[in-house]
Amino acid sequence: MLLGVNIDHIATLRNARGGLEPNLIQAALICEKAGADGITVHLREDRRHTRDNDVFELKKILKTRLNLEMALTEEMQKIALDVKPECCCLVPEKRQEVTTEGGLDVASRVELVSDFVKPLVDAGIVVSLFIDPDEEQVRAAAKTGAQFIELHTGRYSESYGTVNEKSELNALKEAAKLAESLGLKVNAGHGLTYENVHAMREIPQLIELNIGHNIIAKAVFDGLESSVKEMKELIK
Ligand code: PXP
Repeated sequence: MLLGVNIDHIATLRNARGGLEPNLIQAALICEKAGADGITVHLREDRRHTRDNDVFELKKILKTRLNLEMALTEEMQKIALDVKPECCCLVPEKRQEVTTEGGLDVASRVELVSDFVKPLVDAGIVVSLFIDPDEEQVRAAAKTGAQFIELHTGRYSESYGTVNEKSELNALKEAAKLAESLGLKVNAGHGLTYENVHAMREIPQLIELNIGHNIIAKAVFDGLESSVKEMKELIK
């Protein structure tokens, strides 16, 4: 299974001080060096983490693939057609949400989504639709011209360790199976952690997982001890 690393929260930290540190490009290069198969960023309408310039810079320097997550807006479509990332993942976006809360509703607007997808696919971009593991949404996604779906693993992640875990995992399994039978390729992501990710290996259709927050959170702790030691040395 491939790993796409979402580095939005490196940008969140950078933006907290308004400067360039931690450097997003450097973070992407470290992820690639560590074996990441792709780098994912979400360019939000409010630009709360990744910014336009980041996306253009990443496209220039990445040796793997840039996966641009974005909402279905005219503005984002134009940026995607300018940047030409290898992949675009279309996500729902609500301004006040902390993170992408649910999957894209494709079923109620197949035509609109198809019209949005077409110019991207025509430009050679691989398009993925971020949807909940629901039969209706998978069937609708298969009608849009998008080559991939990314199954929203949020419900599974939230139910991990509870009585609902098994049924949520089952929903992902069934959705992946159905998607494959309809000719769609399948990725997954959201809320996956070092603890809960193991079950994804039970879904043979999965090509790539997109994981962000938990990797960046672990990276902070993995580096904190040596960082404090180094500063202590400098002021000794
Ligand atoms: N996939 C999609 C489509 C997302 O919107 C996000 C969050 O930006 C992720 C994966 C990664 O989620 P997390 O940061 O919880 O690992």
